[in-house]
Amino acid sequence: MSNYHIKNLEEYYQIYRKSVRNPENFWEEVAEEHFIWRKRWDKVLSWDFTKPEIKWFEGAKLNITENCIDRHLRIRGDKTAILFEPNSHKDKAEHITYMQLYHRVNKFSNVLKDEGIKKGDRVCIYLPMIPELAVSVLACARIGAIHSVVFAGFSSTALSTRINDSDCKMVITSDGSYRGSKTIDLKGIVDEALERCPSIETSLVVKRINSEIFMKEGRDKWLEPLLENADSECEPEIMDAEDPLFILYTSGSTGKPKGMVHTTAGYMIYSAYTFKNVFQYRENDIYWCTADIGWITGHSYIVYGPLANGATSVMFEGVPNYPDFGRFWEIVEKHKVTQFYTAPTAIRALAKEKLEFVENYDLSSLKVLGSVGEPINEEAWHWYNDNIGKKKSPIVDTWWQTETGGIMISPIPFATPTKPTYATLPLPGIQPVLLDENGVEIKENQVDGRLCIKFPWPSIARTIWGNHERYRETYFSAYENQYFTGDGALRDEVGYYRITGRVDDVIIVSGHNLGTAPIEDAVNEHPAVAESAIVGFPHDIKGNALYGYVILKEAGESRVHDNLRKEINQIITEHIGPIAKLDKIQFTSGLPKTRSGKIMRRILRKIACNDTSNLGDTSTLLNPEVVQEIMDNVL
Ligand code: WT7
Repeated sequence: MSNYHIKNLEEYYQIYRKSVRNPENFWEEVAEEHFIWRKRWDKVLSWDFTKPEIKWFEGAKLNITENCIDRHLRIRGDKTAILFEPNSHKDKAEHITYMQLYHRVNKFSNVLKDEGIKKGDRVCIYLPMIPELAVSVLACARIGAIHSVVFAGFSSTALSTRINDSDCKMVITSDGSYRGSKTIDLKGIVDEALERCPSIETSLVVKRINSEIFMKEGRDKWLEPLLENADSECEPEIMDAEDPLFILYTSGSTGKPKGMVHTTAGYMIYSAYTFKNVFQYRENDIYWCTADIGWITGHSYIVYGPLANGATSVMFEGVPNYPDFGRFWEIVEKHKVTQFYTAPTAIRALAKEKLEFVENYDLSSLKVLGSVGEPINEEAWHWYNDNIGKKKSPIVDTWWQTETGGIMISPIPFATPTKPTYATLPLPGIQPVLLDENGVEIKENQVDGRLCIKFPWPSIARTIWGNHERYRETYFSAYENQYFTGDGALRDEVGYYRITGRVDDVIIVSGHNLGTAPIEDAVNEHPAVAESAIVGFPHDIKGNALYGYVILKEAGESRVHDNLRKEINQIITEHIGPIAKLDKIQFTSGLPKTRSGKIMRRILRKIACNDTSNLGDTSTLLNPEVVQEIMDNVL
């Protein structure tokens, strides 16, 4: 029995039991399968969740790009590695073979070296979804530089915060980007950010939209001429198993984003293993994940996981509604996509449109459909299943996090019977538990608890860049000897998990993880604002939207309020990005607080959700009268 291509539920349970009985043996078997190791490991795993310290494959030496590219050249040199589908449907798709990818990555690696980048240096990548994004990620990995990709929808302030947090020496960007019918001045955003980034020595600029842009003498360099002059062979840097591969920021409950650090060997094994299993990937498949490489989904399931398996990975620059709402399906038909992986928010947006946009295209190539980023609601699940999968392609509802590096709970297509709104079963090697508020394990069915993982897996993030204590505190202090996910979940009678949502101050809006604290910090920057609190409320397409309660220093008239709302959202856009804008802003004279001064978000959440039947005991609040006022003025 192979650890891959699990055929039925019985086989799944056999492999699962084996993986839990002896995780070290299990992962060692996976690691031995077909990766290139420059030196074998001395020890498979050492771990201590109290410190916390986790090491996988200690002593091993490798380079992940050798596994993602070089390894395939002999047998798959002419196979398409990256299938680039541009923003405009009128432009031709670009098939980048493994051989071409090899040359592009090698040249780019040499440019990085020529510009003084060495092993361990941090390089920020702020690019649209164009091939150079994947190539630059791999070029960093080839020379041992730590990449920090920042999603190109983030604002200049968010970009500079991330660059400064990890002292990046270089930023890689483009003159601009296409987004549907619009263009975006990316370089302008970078210029603004770099006014506050003393560690940046160089910015490499890719030409994408041919706009007239400002180039700062000595700092900004066009990439193309540098590539032309670069050597086309670059020996991969030999890395230790636990050398950092990349940093990726995710928002948390406090203001500062957390730079999650992923290391080399464990991340490689896990992203490769889960890709192959969860998508039941076969050699001639055309796999498409619609995420942006700026998120972990893109890192693990557009770049590393697929390429480690020698797959063809589609990379789409555009948006689902340009030139119309049929774009996704046009691409599926054109490239005969076999696995399609997207987010519930996209499914909901497409489900609102006429069915003709789907019916116009032949989707018969599809075998497996994926969902990620937030709970998929029942209606969206059925729409996806009926209209896209035609009831014959299983939907894998994959639960995981930036911190986990790879998919943790998911059906295995054709082996695990699916059930709408359930992510179903843990993948081999993953040991979830549900705990109650006191840390006692919940054994019963259908009881909501906090989802924890009790044993390490190879791609767990090892630390938060520059702040190990925050890492310990956030993930390992809530419950002893457990990794705490921040999510609530329950289990049904057959052991299927259903994720019920965040139990902390993180809100998932359109699949984007947003901490309330950084948004509140931004709102409070407005000179007229005294205090604010942000909660989530259900939204048809976005899943959740943001509701802000704002106390003004001086209460103004309603005419002024509308302007204030615009200004507040403008500040949020500048500080974080348009994804964090508030849908509703209610001005109030106070916020419900406990005697110790803590804002009672639970009450605010209920009011925003129009669910005020059971507010609980408000009499112990410092200011119970404010609850009525807020209820009376709810938007
Ligand atoms: C949070 C992690 C994993 C890549 C994209 C998001 C939520 C993610 C699911 C799912 C229910 C989900 C969780 C998780 N989430 N997938 N299938 N069902 N919730 O990564 O930005 O780190 O967010 O997304 O709340 O904790 P992220």
